[in-house]
Amino acid sequence: MYFLPEKLDDYVVAHSEEEPELLQQLTRETYQKILQPIMLSGPYQGRVLSMISKLIRPKTILELGTFTGYATLCLAEGLQSDGEIHTIDVNEELEDFQRKYFDKSGYGLQIYQHLGSALDIIPKLNQTFDLVFIDADKPNYVNYFNLIIDKLNPGGIILSDNVLWYGKVIEPLDEKDNSTKAVLEFNTLLKNDKRIETVLLPIRDGLTISRKI
Ligand SMILES: C[S@@+](CC[C@H](N)C(=O)[O-])C[C@H]1O[C@@H](n2cnc3c(N)ncnc32)[C@H](O)[C@@H]1O
Repeated sequence: MYFLPEKLDDYVVAHSEEEPELLQQLTRETYQKILQPIMLSGPYQGRVLSMISKLIRPKTILELGTFTGYATLCLAEGLQSDGEIHTIDVNEELEDFQRKYFDKSGYGLQIYQHLGSALDIIPKLNQTFDLVFIDADKPNYVNYFNLIIDKLNPGGIILSDNVLWYGKVIEPLDEKDNSTKAVLEFNTLLKNDKRIETVLLPIRDGLTISRKI
């Protein structure tokens, strides 16, 4: 889905950084072998994630929803040399695929994969984080926020993906559509929670940046 007219979107992409070769390979293999490849962050949003991470220079990153590791590798580009990224996914079939690309990337030793539901794993993580990327199941976004806010360092950043939810956030609400309801609730929470300041960016399917005060 394009929120900008397609030609303008093409122009934006053409005047942004190129996708690294390893991520092009990862994308090709994801499309060949994995169900729902559309879940990949993709080249443009990937460069945005990389840029934000490089601006923050985080020592610790947490990602909810690894999928095939595309965004993990984009975020890892900004890590400090002794930094680490923890990434959680509930789908065990993706683990070997992710590890293959993590090891090829040069960030392999800094990336920790966690298998299971993020709801169970986040409370067991002992460290605090400079950057969190929320990109797992939408119905739990509010729960994820509540679990991570106390693990976020002051000045730390939460990036939340799919906050425009294909534009459904401004359509009449179907009461049975739990994902849209959850995204609406989440966006209102981010706007009103006094512990953070928030800007919603109309990038791809909507990417919110929230900074802990
Ligand atoms: C949109 S994809 C993530 C895309 C990835 N961040 C990227 O940019 O390439 C969502 C992922 O969340 C995972 N997921 C869904 N429910 C989850 C849960 N409760 N805990 C952890 N991961 C979950 C799915 O298995 C899927 O791989």
